[in-house]
Amino acid sequence: MPDIRLPIRTKRLVLRRFDGGDLDAFHAYHSLPETARFLPGPAKTYTQSMERVGRYANFVFEKAGDWVALAIEADDEPGLQGEVVLKWLPGHLQGEVGWTLAPVARGKGYATEAAAAMLELGFGELGLHRIEARLDELNTASASLCCRLGMRLEARHVDKWHYKGQWATELIYAILADEWHVGRELDSRNP
Ligand SMILES: CC(C)(COP(=O)(O)OP(=O)(O)OC[C@H]1O[C@@H](n2cnc3c(N)ncnc32)[C@H](O)[C@@H]1OP(=O)(O)O)[C@@H](O)C(=O)NCCC(=O)NCCS
Repeated sequence: MPDIRLPIRTKRLVLRRFDGGDLDAFHAYHSLPETARFLPGPAKTYTQSMERVGRYANFVFEKAGDWVALAIEADDEPGLQGEVVLKWLPGHLQGEVGWTLAPVARGKGYATEAAAAMLELGFGELGLHRIEARLDELNTASASLCCRLGMRLEARHVDKWHYKGQWATELIYAILADEWHVGRELDSRNP
């Protein structure tokens, strides 16, 4: 895989590598049960946030299992707004995208804009063929985001996960490189 050129700039956002200065802002939203509701573990302790920010700040993207994890900042609002991640999945040219925003950053289209930049990175610079997103069926905000990105609902796995004290049904959305490029072409003709 080629080196990833950072930061990535979009219409309103800057996606950059995390650094130690992001820790308190990261912890402020990852310590909330509301943020953790559809993420694998419980709300993070400060130590867990330290570990995660450290891992994100030092990410390498060299082999299957590695993540690109980028901090989201907005041009007109100071501070960390959230994060967006792209995982290199096992198999040939496969990826997975994920996202989390601080509560104050939601409802503005930032996650869609940041995730679109990650799809662009994945299908462009990194040459991936297929990118998926896996989510809890109850996570309607993430399902809407997948639809806004042009991702296709490919699978519904009933009671696939057991977390937060209950069974959860997993949805898998996906998009292929060709589909992404066609969508971009149409967008550029109808801005
Ligand atoms: C999932 C999550 C990132 C979605 O956040 P979000 O704010 O709904 O998504 P976006 O940033 O793309 O914003 C879209 C919303 O902003 C609105 N919006 C406002 N201005 C907009 C603009 N300029 N462009 C696009 N959308 C805009 C959209 O209409 C949409 O609102 P709606 O859902 O009421 O229709 C957020 O809920 C979250 O962080 N949840 C906790 C962590 C989590 O569950 N992560 C995913 C695990 S799978």
